[in-house]
Amino acid sequence: MTTLTERWLRPQRPRTQFPPYELGDADIVGMAQARTDTVARIYHKGHEQAWDGRQVLDELIAKHGGIHFPEDKRDAFGTVASVLLWGELAAWSISADLALKLDETPAKMAASSQVFDEARHFYTLRDYLWRANVPVKKLGGWSRRLLVELLETENLLYKVVGMQLLVESMAVVIFRSIADARIEPVLTDLLYYFERDEARHVGLGVLTLPDVLEGLSDRDALSLWWFQTRMQLEMIMGGLNINPSFVALGVDPAAMNLAGFRYHHEIIRRMKNTRPGRGTDQASVKGLFRLSKTAQDAFQNLFFPTAAPPAWQRTFLATMVGVAQRTDRWLARRAA
Ligand SMILES: [Fe+2]
Ligand SMILES: [Fe+2]
Repeated sequence: MTTLTERWLRPQRPRTQFPPYELGDADIVGMAQARTDTVARIYHKGHEQAWDGRQVLDELIAKHGGIHFPEDKRDAFGTVASVLLWGELAAWSISADLALKLDETPAKMAASSQVFDEARHFYTLRDYLWRANVPVKKLGGWSRRLLVELLETENLLYKVVGMQLLVESMAVVIFRSIADARIEPVLTDLLYYFERDEARHVGLGVLTLPDVLEGLSDRDALSLWWFQTRMQLEMIMGGLNINPSFVALGVDPAAMNLAGFRYHHEIIRRMKNTRPGRGTDQASVKGLFRLSKTAQDAFQNLFFPTAAPPAWQRTFLATMVGVAQRTDRWLARRAA
């Protein structure tokens, strides 16, 4: 019998593992039940908190007397929304892939409920953009590259870490920041629903990953760490391209970055405390990308200086932005 970690790193195909008869064995299921009930709860919560995208959007539009999107912010929001909209579509496919390939029942249930959420997010956001006359734009090269990598990886551990921990947590922070900026009343109210769902999706990662990470060899942990480092770099490059649009919308990228650090810290803390009786345990987060507080401060000060930066830093930032923009366009041109 292969270990849980093995099954996530190198998923089997139906011809070798279907049907998994142990799912029908009350003794085996009973033993695992208590531990995994919390994961299954994500699925049930998903049902309780499900909302009808058509109805919610119609009601919000009626409540606010229509969508009145500020003309001067339309283009900038189109740029930000392209990452959100295509990100929702990627999340939809990725969660469907997880629902298909994860073989533990509770995790499969949680991923299945996420499929419905992401479908709803995609069509509701697209509907909103159409009705608000916000252009539906193409993805930037770096954002596309990141999403394609997550869509294509066969490795379930990479998929869950990349999707649930990195992309979903970023989505929570972005939705919250845009809602706080109060750009347009229907959008502000609508994003509350999105954010609540995304937080549940982060929960799937938080609850399922510790048991898998614990079983990683040092070598596999290093590969996972490298995978996340690459994703972080792609996010930074994507961010450098999109930040001017956030500024145009009245969203401060520096504050958003800090919120991202805080949320990531909170996720790691929750993961260390998911397993009852184990206290705070480091094995739960083996191989996960983490920045110390000092490194976070250094990053924040380098990319988002509060006072007027010295000449070398201005040159560095201008060079980074230039490189990020050129490579973004180059990657976008290479896309199909
Ligand atoms: Fe979503
Ligand atoms: Fe999500």
